[in-house]
Amino acid sequence: MTLVLGIESSCDETAAALVTGEREILAQAIASQEKEHAPYGGVVPEIAARAHAERLAPLVEKVLAEGGKTLADCDAIAATAGPGLIGGVMVGLVTAKALAMASDTPLLAINHLEGHALSPRLADPDLEFPYALLLVSGGHCQILRVDGVGRYRRLATTIDDALGEAFDKTAKILGLGYPGGPAVERLAKEGDPAVVPLPRPMVGSGEPHFSFAGLKSAVLRAHDSGEYADADIAASFQQAALDCILDRLHIALRRMGEVNALVVAGGVAANQTIRGGLEHLADDFGLRFTAPPLPLCTDNAAMIAWAGVERLAAGFPADPLDLRARPRWPLDPEAEPARGAGVKA
Ligand code: KG4
Ligand code: ZN
Repeated sequence: MTLVLGIESSCDETAAALVTGEREILAQAIASQEKEHAPYGGVVPEIAARAHAERLAPLVEKVLAEGGKTLADCDAIAATAGPGLIGGVMVGLVTAKALAMASDTPLLAINHLEGHALSPRLADPDLEFPYALLLVSGGHCQILRVDGVGRYRRLATTIDDALGEAFDKTAKILGLGYPGGPAVERLAKEGDPAVVPLPRPMVGSGEPHFSFAGLKSAVLRAHDSGEYADADIAASFQQAALDCILDRLHIALRRMGEVNALVVAGGVAANQTIRGGLEHLADDFGLRFTAPPLPLCTDNAAMIAWAGVERLAAGFPADPLDLRARPRWPLDPEAEPARGAGVKA
């Protein structure tokens, strides 16, 4: 039976996991850096890299011990090699290289986004390619058609902020602290989503791309006006974000050809209101809807190990020990930049 050790360190979670080809997570451990970054209201790259360097090796020891396995039992060591904060990515990748070298085990360099993109298949054995994927995290907001392992077509991206970033900024404006997504969702439960008039950027435009910068500014204006309760702002923001997603997905789904399912992945997939809206949309299109369980939505190493399992099964070769960490690494290198887009891919 295939066994892969996964390592994740691209943002503010240090994580290791042991996953089998039978979709069993034998052991996993995550060390969150929330406390370290909270005073700054966001992730500080230097602090993140240092924390990964301190925590990763003990986490790997822990999951091997809990899983009752040694490195020699592993068919591969899979580590996130990008995209992400480069200092952290390097800590994880170099650790994986050293472990691979010391144990004579193949190294698999995993695209973090591929980890998110394939994570629903770890949770759902019946999810077959091709499927439509909404990938919504702190750094990314994309709609992809997933045809197979390593075969991604990007139909939409954001021209400015990612959706998770918009949640985090809204949380900051409302004084909810970091990380913002879960806090905004909690407060939104007490608010009325119809009270605050907020824009739906890009809704109605022909290309299915996203934009959230204008929505964030409108949240700031609504807050500064003093006219609205924070809970109503949170609820109205969440509703506006959901309306944008549904409108954009309508266009993308009509364009991408036949798929088996609508799938959501990435940290924002933890949001229950957004999940609910997507489930309805999938129904309208006659598609099954899949979302990974919450711990697999936010950054974790099980999804990285699983991407390694999938790559082994699909016959991808091991990666060389001189492989570079990549701060940017698009899943679909052929995708055209969105018109009006800044630096974010
Ligand atoms: O995938 P992830 O853990 O890290 C990245 O690769 O970016 O996503 C983190 C993002 C953060 O912006 C966080 O605020 C958001 O996911 N998030 C949520 C929720 N839980 C996490 N956003 C909305 N509602 C949530 N419940
Ligand atoms: Zn992520």
